[in-house]
Amino acid sequence: METDTGPLDLWEPAPPAFVHALPALLEVYTAAMEPPAEQLPGRRTIMEQHARHPRFKAVLAMQPAEDPVGPGADAAPCPPRLAGFAYGFHGHRGQWWFDVVTEELRRRDPAAERRWFRDTFEVAEVHVHPGMQGRGIGRALLERLTAARPERAAVLSTRTGSTVARRLYGSCGFVDVLPEFSFPGSPDQPFAIMAARLPLRGRGRRRSAGRSRGWRWTG
Ligand SMILES: CC(C)(COP(=O)(O)OP(=O)(O)OC[C@H]1O[C@@H](n2cnc3c(N)ncnc32)[C@H](O)[C@@H]1OP(=O)(O)O)[C@@H](O)C(=O)NCCC(=O)NCCS
Repeated sequence: METDTGPLDLWEPAPPAFVHALPALLEVYTAAMEPPAEQLPGRRTIMEQHARHPRFKAVLAMQPAEDPVGPGADAAPCPPRLAGFAYGFHGHRGQWWFDVVTEELRRRDPAAERRWFRDTFEVAEVHVHPGMQGRGIGRALLERLTAARPERAAVLSTRTGSTVARRLYGSCGFVDVLPEFSFPGSPDQPFAIMAARLPLRGRGRRRSAGRSRGWRWTG
């Protein structure tokens, strides 16, 4: 795939390689989400645990290594750089996120719980480094992540409001299942719980008018 700053590879690491790459993933996560520094060790632990969930899948968007040119051409090539990542897994009872969300949904809208949470792929994280956002990488990650999944639906949580993430998810067919939901311990951070039928719609659709397409899918 080509960006306006060069080519980009999508890589699907197995769980051990994903865990090995966590320091780089957390750098992108930190740049994209700007979480309080004290939350990072806990986030890392959660990601390690997620990698052990059933049918775990991750996709990393990498800028390939560059061969040096000119006077320093003997030097080692510049290592690949991570532009963004996404991962998810099969959701089921006994997982923290699944249990708190389905408990609330059973209270508020039991039909929606039956519709969306019987056979679900949980999209846990999608992040693109701020320097690489707006070039189609987030969409490419989400499409690759959800491609060829056996589950009937994809579910996720994202901050409420008119965000780029919500725009991306909406354009892929995600709808609000719980428009405003606070996770235990975070009463002041409202999230929307969203769900979509799989496969996602929107594959190959045109980008919005006024925004240039940063790269073209060549795979
Ligand atoms: C949300 C995020 C993953 C999207 O990735 P991205 O590479 O920036 O997005 P893309 O370039 O693939 O754009 C996908 C869609 O998002 C929307 N979008 C992207 N940039 C936008 C902008 N500047 N303004 C408005 N909408 C925008 C558009 O709907 C776009 O669709 P299009 O292809 O029809 O134009 C990325 O911006 C990000 O990491 N944000 C910070 C972390 C975050 O919020 N993660 C999600 C947590 S749930």
